[in-house]
Amino acid sequence: AAERTLSIIKPDATRRNLTGKINAKFEEAGLRIVAQKRLQLTEAQAGAFYAVHKERPFYKDLVSFMISGPVVAQVLEGENAVAKNREVMGATNPANAAAGTIRKEFAESIEANSVHGSDSAENAATEIAFFFAGIEITG
Ligand code: CMP
Repeated sequence: AAERTLSIIKPDATRRNLTGKINAKFEEAGLRIVAQKRLQLTEAQAGAFYAVHKERPFYKDLVSFMISGPVVAQVLEGENAVAKNREVMGATNPANAAAGTIRKEFAESIEANSVHGSDSAENAATEIAFFFAGIEITG
């Protein structure tokens, strides 16, 4: 079914001017970018977005990394968008990512892994609402 997911192009990728190359991967996979904005997250915002990871050993570093430069938040739409986006991104750790995936081609490390994508349709709805008002999204 047609679905939406929340994607973030992370600071390691915006720093290296990779927004267009990453967007091309999404579009080639049949995902439509139906909302997009570039923003500098505050520490509080990044901490809130990743609150589910609060107890993880990498949480503090992750928040510092996510505020180290601008991110591009986007809503991707398409058939099975959550799963399709995860396929295009590749494994969290670029060392384990399949050939042709965004993380295999562009990620610098397990932390600076170029993109975030929602891991379920339910989380996608929450994450989309974190960044976008309904009026900002148009299929
Ligand atoms: P993301 O898909 O955005 O979800 C959590 C992020 O934490 C992950 O991508 C990485 O950027 C970062 N991270 C850093 N270390 C780890 C780790 N050991 N396991 C999972 N995620 C990690």
